[in-house]
Formats: sequence, structure tokens, C-alpha cells
Amino acid sequence: MGLPVLSAIFRSRVVCQRGFVALLNCPKHMKASVSLFSHSAGRCTQTCQALIYRKHGDPSGVVELEDVPVHQTGAKEVLVKLLASPINPSDINMIQGTYSILPKLPAIGGNEGVAQVIEVGSQVKSLKAGDWVIPRDAGLGTWRTEAVLAEDDVISVPNDIPLLSAATLGVNPCTAIRMLSDFEDLKPGDSVIQNAANSGVGQAVIQIAAASGINTINVIRDRPDFTQLSDRLKAIGASHVIKEETLRRPEMKELFKTCSKPKLALNGVGGKSATELLRHLQVGGSMVTYGGMSKQPVTIPVSALIFKDVKVRGFWVTQWKKDHSHGKQAYYLQCEKRVRVSQKIFKVCFLVVIFFPRWEDIQSHAG
Ligand SMILES: NC(=O)c1ccc[n+]([C@@H]2O[C@H](COP(=O)([O-])OP(=O)(O)OC[C@H]3O[C@@H](n4cnc5c(N)ncnc54)[C@H](OP(=O)(O)O)[C@@H]3O)[C@@H](O)[C@H]2O)c1
Repeated sequence: MGLPVLSAIFRSRVVCQRGFVALLNCPKHMKASVSLFSHSAGRCTQTCQALIYRKHGDPSGVVELEDVPVHQTGAKEVLVKLLASPINPSDINMIQGTYSILPKLPAIGGNEGVAQVIEVGSQVKSLKAGDWVIPRDAGLGTWRTEAVLAEDDVISVPNDIPLLSAATLGVNPCTAIRMLSDFEDLKPGDSVIQNAANSGVGQAVIQIAAASGINTINVIRDRPDFTQLSDRLKAIGASHVIKEETLRRPEMKELFKTCSKPKLALNGVGGKSATELLRHLQVGGSMVTYGGMSKQPVTIPVSALIFKDVKVRGFWVTQWKKDHSHGKQAYYLQCEKRVRVSQKIFKVCFLVVIFFPRWEDIQSHAG
């Protein structure tokens, strides 16, 4: 049965209207229609439901809802029930076959989500039934109702934070925190300019920057409810919200009378939008590209390179996780405990501390 992805999602009430896969109840059928996708070599005892694609293409044409086997939980494995799994742009690109990492087909969609541990294997040490966990890396296939996963493939997170924050904390907030930390030495009073400011990444940038005293100039596309969206972004900490067209207008001069020129530009769009961000950077500033929603290439004016000496960089959180995976769980546990004790919790979701390299960084960002 072909299943339009949109019929299997609901929309969360956050500013960016992220879609979530809604497959929350897992009927325990006794017959499996697919014999793949379990991480366990154990005997199959039951099935759950999953959104599967067997070839690349438009998601509405190639993704199907199927029963898949759930194997018995091995000694170092956990059986989990998925509670919520978002639909990220990269999930769509993976299905289309245009992303830089692609799973072997057939594959289950989804790379993020939060799951509850139902059962643990006899040698599992770090998890117990009832714990909430998120994937350690991309590629787990989270658009399903249940899974048997290796203990090492997941990271436990507190289960008293909002479900949708837990489901989305592994990618966008982490991308935001790394981009704000790794390219320029930002201090309170400095400015950052970004496009796609209402996206998941953009909202995390706004909230983390605001918690650190950093101004954000947030660029969004024009729309009938521009004022409403602008007000909502300001309510979560945006200093300025402007339309794409404004980037090319004299109003920008007025804006920079009250706000420093940005040291950092974050580009999730590409094309003209990226070029315009670049024009407003400080001399020597950095533009970091993390997404290309317009599917247009980034053009760098020669003058920006010669006369402003701008640095043009890219960021990919999947690679960052690979490069920094050593000891991450230990850091996370230590950071989470300290953050709880000190009650310095980010509005966006304090779990971005997973990706802080040092405790001092957490303190400075938590304010
Ligand atoms: N490099 C990394 O490590 C990394 C990590 C996370 C995300 N990403 C990438 O970052 C981007 C945003 O991801 P997300 O999850 O934050 O997205 P999201 O919440 O789904 O939001 C998508 C954003 O893209 C904008 N947009 C869509 N089409 C556009 C177009 N043609 N021109 C200009 N803007 C457009 C939307 O603006 P409207 O509201 O106006 O439609 C919205 O602001 C994606 O490309 C994603 O793959 C990269």
C-alpha cells in the first residue's frame, strides 16, 4: 500500500510547524511481511509498523507503511517504543536519494526521534525500562513504532522534558550550538545574521544566542502573517526580524545604528539570500552554510573576499558527531547532572549540552 507521508504526520504547534511521524501504537501482529531492518540476529517474535522505502524517489510515491519484524532483545540490546519522530528536510533528501549518506535499500525512514525503553537485555548497564532515549547517530530508521537497538546506538535523556523537544534535540539545537561556538568568538553584544530564521535550526539559534546576550538579525521570507511570525520569533528572543527583500534596502543602515554588524552569518538557504547575508558581515567575519533550501548555489562576490576578507565555511552535524563521539555519553551525563543542579536550563532545551565540550562553556551559555 502506498502511503503519502503527509497522511502519516501531524503538525506540532511550534513556530516552524515541523511535521512528525505519528505511528504511536504498535499492534503486535504475529506475521511479518518484511524480513529486514532489525539490528538483532535473534528470533523474530512479533512485528511493528514502519514507513519503508524500497527505491529512491518522491516520498509520497515510494514510502509505504508495512509490518516489520521485531526480534527478541539480545544481551546488549534494548527494545524501545518510538514516542515521536520528526520529519527533517534531510530525511526527505535521503528518500529522494540526494543526501550525502544513503542507507542500504530497503530502508526505514527517519533519523531522529525519542523512544521509551520497554525491555533491556541481560548485559545492558546504562539503561532501564521506562528510560527515554534518542539515537546516537543518523541512520537508525526512526519512523517505526518499535525497534531492538544496541545499547551503544542510543543516548538516554531525561523523560520530564517536552516530548517534541526530546524528539528534535539531537540535530537542530546541536547544529545551532556548534555553529554559534565553533566559527567566531562571539561575546555578549555581538551580532549574528541568519536566513531561514523560522526553521528548526533558526529557532534554536535565536534562543541560544539570546541566552548568551548575542543579538540575532533574523531573515524570513515574506508571507501574509509576517507580523505574527515576527512577533513569535521575538517572543523566543529574536532581536530583529526582517524580510528577505529588506536585506537589499536602505533600512539596513538604520538597523545597524542600533546593532553591531554581524561577525557570523548562518546560511540555510543559499542563492541570493546567502549573497545578501554576506554583504552585511563585518570585515573578517564568517559565513557558515549548513543547508540549501533554495537549491541554488552560493555566489561569493569577489569584493567580499578581497576587501572584507570574509571566511566562507560549511558545517555538517553528522560529521561533527563522528569526529567527537569519543566520551560523549560521559560528557552528557556529567553536564546534564550539573545543569539540573544549577537550574540553568535553556528555554530551547538544555540537552544541547551534549555537544558542549566543557562545563565552563555550559556556564557561560546558560548565563
Ligand atoms: N548541516 C547540518 O548539520 C544541518 C543540521 C540540521 C539541518 N540542516 C539543514 O538545514 C536546513 C533547515 O533544516 P530545518 O530542520 O531547520 O528546517 P525546517 O524547520 O523544516 O524549516 C525549513 C526552512 O527553510 C525555509 N525554506 C524552504 N524552502 C525555501 C526556499 N526555497 N527559499 C528560502 N527558504 C526556504 C523555510 O522557510 P518558509 O517558512 O518561508 O517556507 C523554513 O525556514 C535544511 O536544509 C536541513 O537539511 C543541516
